Order: sequence, then structure tokens, then C-alpha cells
Amino acid sequence: MAQNRVHAPALIPVLAIDGPSGSGKGTITRLLAQRLGWHYLDSGALYRLVALAALRRGVALDDAAGLRALAQSLDARFDPAQPDKAYLEGVEVGEALRSEQCGNAASRAAAIAGVRAALLERQRAFRKAPGLVADGRDMGTVIFPDAALKIFLTATPEERARRRYKQLKDKGLDARMNDLVKDIAERDARDSARAAAPLKPAPDAVVLDTTEMSIEAVVERALTLLRERLGKSK
Ligand code: C5P
Repeated sequence: MAQNRVHAPALIPVLAIDGPSGSGKGTITRLLAQRLGWHYLDSGALYRLVALAALRRGVALDDAAGLRALAQSLDARFDPAQPDKAYLEGVEVGEALRSEQCGNAASRAAAIAGVRAALLERQRAFRKAPGLVADGRDMGTVIFPDAALKIFLTATPEERARRRYKQLKDKGLDARMNDLVKDIAERDARDSARAAAPLKPAPDAVVLDTTEMSIEAVVERALTLLRERLGKSK
């Protein structure tokens, strides 16, 4: 029994990293998971997979019941060794998932409460020993409210558009700066205004403005904060 208790999910530490698009969450979450040797959850990929399944199957992005059903039966798999890879119905879709079209469709699907509810337990199942670093919009507010540390990353919209541009170009994908600024503003507005789990920092989150911070500085700050938290709770 004691053994079970040690492995009870609630005792497995979670580091929740939330924030808007382009705030650096993805890169920082991956580096933190590597440095800590913890598991990694890219929750945005789940919403993107639902959106991609909808686009491919012709389910409209305002069809709440259709999208909820897709989310409930989503046949998705990730490769822990290769975080850029994701499989939808057994087929690798990593590249399609990263397009702006898919990101925008994901943001529409994510506004539907039934879709969010359908993905809740799937996200919590990523919490495995020795720990989990989780990237999203509601990791600290809804999915892991008992996270050991919650960090909310921000950056100015211009800086976030610039980062997104570089990211897409580095992957050889098409991108135009003006379109990205517009997309980011639209996505921020939709993610923040929705009734279901709107994008906002948890009351106990540490808010970090990364506009002028290097990736390494953000990672180091997060590790210092986490050590403090885990030390204090012992
Ligand atoms: O983080 P990423 O850009 O991949 O997420 C795509 C979209 O999925 C976001 O714009 C957001 O609307 C939605 N999302 C969400 N909750 C999460 C993760 C992503 O609503 N935990």
C-alpha cells in the first residue's frame, strides 16, 4: 500500500508552464523536461490533433457535438523520444500539426467546453514519476491545480510574432510577418475571452516576461524557483 501511495499521481510533482502563443513555452518546456529528466506534455498538440482530425474528416469547427465526439475517440500517440512527432490514426502528422492553419483551427476547437472535458483525463494521465513538465494555457488553472510550480510566460505581441516567424521559417514553412501579427492578436483574443478555461495566470503563478530574456535565462529561473518550491514542501 505504501508503495502505491508513493506513486499516487498527486505526489508526483508537476511544473506547469502556461502562456500565450509565441511566449517560448514549447522550447522552454522541452528544455526543462530534458534537464529534469521528467515527462513532457504538449497539451496544445492535443487540441491541434482534434482540429486536424476535424479538417480531414470535414467536421465543421463550430460543430460542438461533432468535435467533442472526435476528441473523445481521438486516436493520437506521441513519441517521448521525439517530441516533434505526433501520430493521428497511426500516421505521422508532426508537420501538418505545426501550420498556422492548424493552430487557428485548434484555438477554435479549444473554445468548446465538451472538447476540453474530453481531453482532461488524457492530459492528467501524462503525470508519471519522477515528474511532469506540462505546456499549455490551463495547466496551472484547470488540469494540474496542485502543480508544485506554475509559471506564466509572456512577451510583447511583436516579439511573439517575430519568434513564431523564425520558428516557421526554420522549419521551411511559409510565413508572413503581417499575417502572424494578426493571427497572434486574434488567437490571444479568442483564448482569453472564451468562457471555458480562458487564458489567464493562476492566482499562484509566477509571471515571467520573456521579451528581453534569453531561453537559457528563463530555464535557469524556472529551475531555481522549482528547487525552492520542492525544498520548501519537504
Ligand atoms: O500551444 P499551441 O499553439 O500548440 O496551442 C494551439 C491552440 O490550442 C491554442 O491557441 C489554444 O487555443 C489551444 N490550447 C488550449 N489549451 C491548452 C493548450 C492549447 O486551449 N492547454
